[in-house]
Amino acid sequence: MLAAVYGNGSTELTLQELPTPEPGPGMVRVKVAVSGVNPTDWKTRKGLTGRTPASADSFQVPNQDGAGTIDAVGDGVDEARIGERVWLLMAAHNSRYGTAAEYTVLPSEQAITLPDTASFELGASLGVPALTAAYCLTAHEPLAGAAVLVSGGAGAVGHAAIELARFEQAGQIVATVSGPEKAALARTAGADTVVNYRAAGAAEQIRAAAAHGIDRFVEVALDQNLELDLAVAAPRALITAYAADAQSVAQVAVRRLMAANITLRFMLLYAVRPAERRAAVELTRRALAAGALTTLPLHRFTLAQAAAAHDAVERGAVGKVVIDLS
Ligand SMILES: NC(=O)c1ccc[n+]([C@@H]2O[C@H](COP(=O)([O-])OP(=O)(O)OC[C@H]3O[C@@H](n4cnc5c(N)ncnc54)[C@H](OP(=O)(O)O)[C@@H]3O)[C@@H](O)[C@H]2O)c1
Repeated sequence: MLAAVYGNGSTELTLQELPTPEPGPGMVRVKVAVSGVNPTDWKTRKGLTGRTPASADSFQVPNQDGAGTIDAVGDGVDEARIGERVWLLMAAHNSRYGTAAEYTVLPSEQAITLPDTASFELGASLGVPALTAAYCLTAHEPLAGAAVLVSGGAGAVGHAAIELARFEQAGQIVATVSGPEKAALARTAGADTVVNYRAAGAAEQIRAAAAHGIDRFVEVALDQNLELDLAVAAPRALITAYAADAQSVAQVAVRRLMAANITLRFMLLYAVRPAERRAAVELTRRALAAGALTTLPLHRFTLAQAAAAHDAVERGAVGKVVIDLS
């Protein structure tokens, strides 16, 4: 099969011919139609995530997300799955076979049925962003009626968070963005109020939209936004931070969080408990079946352009970067 490959001591992505992998016990093989690219993919390739990229003497096919059709199953998997359209999660986690290839293999439970009404592009946009968003939105209490702040509302995770919050009947949904193009994307996704976090008066605008304060935060840049978050938080708010680079340091005003019983939570998708991951998949699956999820504007690349696709994500492309294999 053709695959985009790095490793063997290099971070460079090149197109190579590899033996088509066979699905082991409990696994499925998927003919990939679309591979989705996320920041985690280029960061891991460049050794910035702390997760082990391909060992020095081995190859790695990148990309966690994708969508396609099951074409073979391993022992213990129902043969009725052959021919099923699926979206994929964490394909390259602890595996050499990510989705930037004509075929990938992964555990059967990481290939989720994709309804006929959903495109492969949408399926390839779900994995990392939707599961991260679903986890961040989920708490002991239901989301219905709660005021939500999604920082970075035009990003892949932010987009999914707005749509999932809308699907779960959150109360006021506020998104922060840096300019008009991203504001339009956040509004299209379903944000009630969109605020430029770089402009003066952001806290006042958020408070005007959510008078009793924000109950749940899906936070992309805690180190930069904690002050703003605390300025608009409701008592007993939950702030979940899901992104940081190695330099990110937040100063926590302990008394302010303590006095308002605010919970500060951190998450990394690869480390969430299996039951929590299953819950995030289930929320995403229900929202998808209801037609509540959409793609951001697409930036399409071919498999031979996989390196350019990674570069586009690294440069902060506005929209969703996908690699077309069909
Ligand atoms: N913990 C996990 O498991 C997990 C899962 C998924 C993603 N991530 C990480 O989360 C980050 C976002 O991922 P993504 O796929 O959504 O990326 P993306 O599509 O590039 O979106 C990031 C968005 O955040 C916005 N942003 C940046 N700084 C901001 C700030 N201070 N306040 C508000 N918005 C800000 C950006 O727009 P502006 O810069 O124009 O504001 C951009 O729209 C990446 O660093 C990724 O590695 C982590």
